Amino acid sequence: MYLISTVARSRYKWLVICFLVMFIVVYVPLQNDSLYPKEKHLKKASVPRPQVNATVAEHATIGEDLVNTDDGDIDDKEPLPTPQLYYVQESQCKIPYIDPFAAEVMKNFNPDTFETCTNQSDLVRPIFDMNRKKYVLQIDESVATQILQSSDIEYNCYYQEITRNADADSYNDLLPQIYFSQGYVVPLHVQALILACHEAANTSHILQKDAYALIQYKPLAPNLEPKPPTTPRKPSVFMFGIDSLSRINLRRTMPKVYKFLTRRGWYEMQGYNKVADNTFPNLLAVLSGYSPDTAKAKVCDTDNRGCFDRMPFIWKYFKSAGYLTAYGEDECGMNTFNYMKPGFIAMPTDYYHRPFLKGFTGEMETWKCANCTLTYCVGRRIQSSYVYDFGKEFAKRYVDERPIWGLFWSSSFSHDDYAMPAKMQNYVLQYLLDLQQDGIFEQSIVIFLSDHGARYGRLSFYSSGFLEERLPAMFIYLPPWFRAQYPQFAKALEINRHRLSSNFDLHNTLKHIIELGQPANAPPLPKANDCPTCQSLFHPVSRERGCHEAGISEHYCTCQPYKRISFDWSDRISQGVIDRINDYLYARNYSEICANLTLSYIHKTEIKLGLDISFHDDIPKLDVGYYRVKFKVQQNSADFMATVVYNNVTNHVDVDVETISRTNSYEEDSTCISHKLAKLYCICQSLLRT
Ligand SMILES: *[C@@H]1O[C@H](CO)[C@@H](O)[C@H](O)[C@H]1NC(C)=O
Ligand SMILES: *[C@@H]1O[C@H](CO)[C@@H](O)[C@H](O)[C@H]1NC(C)=O
Ligand SMILES: *[C@@H]1O[C@H](CO)[C@@H](O)[C@H](O)[C@H]1NC(C)=O
Ligand SMILES: *[C@@H]1O[C@H](CO)[C@@H](O)[C@H](O)[C@H]1NC(C)=O
Ligand SMILES: *[C@@H]1O[C@H](CO)[C@@H](O)[C@H](O)[C@H]1NC(C)=O
Ligand SMILES: *[C@@H]1O[C@H](CO)[C@@H](O)[C@H](O)[C@H]1NC(C)=O
Ligand SMILES: *[C@@H]1O[C@H](CO)[C@@H](O)[C@H](O)[C@H]1NC(C)=O
Repeated sequence: MYLISTVARSRYKWLVICFLVMFIVVYVPLQNDSLYPKEKHLKKASVPRPQVNATVAEHATIGEDLVNTDDGDIDDKEPLPTPQLYYVQESQCKIPYIDPFAAEVMKNFNPDTFETCTNQSDLVRPIFDMNRKKYVLQIDESVATQILQSSDIEYNCYYQEITRNADADSYNDLLPQIYFSQGYVVPLHVQALILACHEAANTSHILQKDAYALIQYKPLAPNLEPKPPTTPRKPSVFMFGIDSLSRINLRRTMPKVYKFLTRRGWYEMQGYNKVADNTFPNLLAVLSGYSPDTAKAKVCDTDNRGCFDRMPFIWKYFKSAGYLTAYGEDECGMNTFNYMKPGFIAMPTDYYHRPFLKGFTGEMETWKCANCTLTYCVGRRIQSSYVYDFGKEFAKRYVDERPIWGLFWSSSFSHDDYAMPAKMQNYVLQYLLDLQQDGIFEQSIVIFLSDHGARYGRLSFYSSGFLEERLPAMFIYLPPWFRAQYPQFAKALEINRHRLSSNFDLHNTLKHIIELGQPANAPPLPKANDCPTCQSLFHPVSRERGCHEAGISEHYCTCQPYKRISFDWSDRISQGVIDRINDYLYARNYSEICANLTLSYIHKTEIKLGLDISFHDDIPKLDVGYYRVKFKVQQNSADFMATVVYNNVTNHVDVDVETISRTNSYEEDSTCISHKLAKLYCICQSLLRT
């Protein structure tokens, strides 16, 4: 019954979509603010939403019309105190709320305007024919006429297939050119193609060149046909990721997107705290439940080729539960499992985007916007759009038919510039609206996430830099049917919005989702290995929870945050740490061989606030306190970071030297000694660079 009704509905929806597409093409000029007409339900929100602060409200009203709900009923969330002072305010954990529009940040915040890669219309487009369940290539003759400025000149079009190279986790040389004409049916084996049309009489006169990844239809295996009476419904999961985006910076740079993410059914995990430094360990925790070190000890060394094929990634569990899986990331040079890592030998998921984008990037022109470090355009389109389109197409193909899981991740516009998401907000919002149009939000759980916040650059210099870095955006959406079927899970998410949570909890939540679709007597799945006290977020998290219980180490913990300070007195702390390092080298009789260290400059000094000191107040007088310093010494520009106890009266720094981190490479500096730990602090006299 479920199958029949959804097929019928998807037919109907296709008609609606066709009509809407026509409507939009005719009436809605591209990339303006008139997104409103695309809304399915135009009912106005009737209940005013709690506003944090007048400044926030002013910035957010641009997207006011977007706050409509799918059923007219605004939400059942308790209003927050105004203004909001904490993301989490519990006995063991107080994560301060940071005003994203604070004056010190806004005075340097000058977002660029959105740019397109081309203004020319598509000459060829692959259209999925719902009846034949195949792609056909549609040539728009009027575009050719426009480009050639004549309708009499003959032109021809060809495509070249892109295939995956398993050895390099990349693509093979393009396959030979295949010429096609209007309405050509793309063979099922073609997963991605580069195409071009040229003047018939002159093959070097290219009218347009383009590239597409396809979601070719995979028929449902007969044994996977859903049998509603015996198995519970399996919820699809669509994960939409943007690299280096803190929840603070999301509010600041993409207020319209943020507003979309506050609609009914969305739950923001405001106490979600990263568990590691950069993308790899943070995503690994979500996707496998392991930290790299434990994986190395218990599964395999992630630096070794083949290890990722053996890791118990979440997509394997989804796949064996009968889900179709997909995974895509942009900016191939820094892909999570390929940057300084060996990548995958076998395709990790049923649909895997990397080889295709590698091909597009390798074979098409690429372009960086002014002042951008990463590639903005690949061929005729924005780099991230290939991944988003892949995700959108995947969801559209299957969402009404069978359970899917997919992760679609972009780094290209957010990784190196905290302000650039502002330029992209309408573009990102449009994808969310497209997903809505395609019915994704009726069927699927959607997770809008990031891995961490700004780890360097301007944001890290503000007093809130510690929080910017550690609090990635994390929003979970539950579709109406799921909320109706599992009200207790919706209630738990509601509660957990203001409790501490981590990547390992998200991992367990994904496992929980898989278990929901299994027969009641199925054995439970293994939970996050590196955090035995972590849990599914569909159960309320304890109010007493601290970072340790959430698998978050002290260094990344925001429950008792550090605040960046810069005073004459606080500059003495770094000097004190250097004295302790010199004492250490002297005590081990290394002072003859290793240089006596002297301060070059202080990167930053942070004071730990503890549970009883508010981030929003001035720093109280404190004789003895915890501080974190990061500084550079003159000798070979070595960088160190230390967490210390400092007595502001006696000026004494208390620190176990062997806990001080060396934050740049020491390999070249300390070959004169062999003591494993002392090597971190020794700059050999003989190797001093001037
Ligand atoms: C909102 O926050 C800003 C910056 O923190 C502050 O200057 C302003 O007075 C606040 N407005 C209200 C209405 O609280
Ligand atoms: C597209 O058109 C806009 C508005 O005319 C212009 O500002 C922009 O530079 C054009 N983009 C390209 C890639 O030509
Ligand atoms: C063929 O097209 C190329 C590219 O547009 C052009 O440079 C060349 O002059 C053309 N050759 C002839 C014979 O028209
Ligand atoms: C690029 O950066 C420079 C210096 O920061 C600035 O003056 C210039 O306006 C920027 N260009 C664009 C297009 O943003
Ligand atoms: C200290 O090192 C020097 C040479 O580096 C050596 O001559 C001396 O015996 C050492 N002293 C101790 C107490 O180990
Ligand atoms: C190391 O440098 C400090 C000054 O930073 C100085 O007080 C100390 O005497 C020096 N130690 C040696 C062994 O040169
Ligand atoms: C440390 O001492 C200085 C005076 O030397 C004082 O101004 C400052 O407020 C003190 N810091 C704390 C955290 O007590």
